Amino acid sequence: MFEHLTPQKPDAILKLVQMYREDPRADKVDLGVGVYKDATGNTPVMRAIKAAEQQLWQDQTTKSYVGLAGDPGFSDAMIKLVLGDTIARDKIAAAATPGGTGAVRQAFELIKMARPDARVFVSNPTWPNHLSILDYLGMETVLYRYFDDETRGVDFDGMIADLKTARAGDVVLLHGCCHNPTGANLSAVQWQDVIAVLQETGAVPMIDIAYQGFGDGLEADAAATRAVAAAMPECLIAASCSKNFGIYRERTGILMMVANGTGKGVAQGTLAFLNRQNFSFPPDHGARLVTMILNDDALRADWMAELEEVRLSMLGLREQLARELQQRAGSDRFGFLAEHRGMFSRLGTTPELVMKMREEHGIYMVGDSRMNIAGLNAQTVPILAEAIIAAGV
Ligand code: LMR
Repeated sequence: MFEHLTPQKPDAILKLVQMYREDPRADKVDLGVGVYKDATGNTPVMRAIKAAEQQLWQDQTTKSYVGLAGDPGFSDAMIKLVLGDTIARDKIAAAATPGGTGAVRQAFELIKMARPDARVFVSNPTWPNHLSILDYLGMETVLYRYFDDETRGVDFDGMIADLKTARAGDVVLLHGCCHNPTGANLSAVQWQDVIAVLQETGAVPMIDIAYQGFGDGLEADAAATRAVAAAMPECLIAASCSKNFGIYRERTGILMMVANGTGKGVAQGTLAFLNRQNFSFPPDHGARLVTMILNDDALRADWMAELEEVRLSMLGLREQLARELQQRAGSDRFGFLAEHRGMFSRLGTTPELVMKMREEHGIYMVGDSRMNIAGLNAQTVPILAEAIIAAGV
């Protein structure tokens, strides 16, 4: 039977990781996969995670199963982190998942189960794995305009015009903050316009929030998600702890479901059922650490302080890069880099020039010109600026 298998297209982001590893040049710069790196190029274990792990090692007496939806304490803590007090806890069903990607996958399956003919509207561009999973599940996708190649900001008129073509029961996938791959985000006022279109069309919002705390701060980054969830009768939220807790390999995420027309028991039971079908119990280690941190004043304060250091360092790198480019280009045409938020920015250039920067300067960015800003440091920013100008971007 296995002779029927055909080679799969490699994931562009993960392929780049491999290519970077194999490049012998000492001055190469990795701006590929979305992983935070400190000034020395290390992806550190956050202080609060280390402390929580130590405590957990001391106190944990069993590794027996938890529950199909994970630890309810994790759900409570994450719902509070993402949604604050906007929605009553008993109106939200939630289940832990293996990472944010696991939550996205479960959300798509849930949509398919509830409404097999739903179309999923995704931004053009979006995280490539959104499209890949939707395609794998055989779900119909519709691209809505998002990135304006000229301004490197959001093509808001195009986005609204495209979202207006959604029908009741279609799903609109939105990035809660720190849009991946572009770094271009909606203003608070624009989010209100998006909500109005969702209400008008009856489309159901699904929010992917994987970078809370990396943009304008923990609360500010959750504001759009909260506004959408509060305004709509139904909403799905896929949240990740990989980046803001730095626990990438622990696979810690959660799917939340606001379903006002559905009994809470049905909603919660469906999430548990879907977990059981796909992987049974979700991973617990990362979720437990997150719960400990969020429920302990001292650990939480230390986590928030370190996350803020990370956020400010990325902002500093953005500003330095925009400045270096302004000096070299003699114009403000790269000013958008300081306006973008989150880990990524789309430079807005061709795959040919991306390749040229890789071959001639050892700069590894994704082919669509997405750069991981967190992969830079004060020393590599001028190298990147030099390469961008030398390549003729
Ligand atoms: C990214 O976009 O680089 C991250 O979300 C990591 C991944 O899994 O692709």
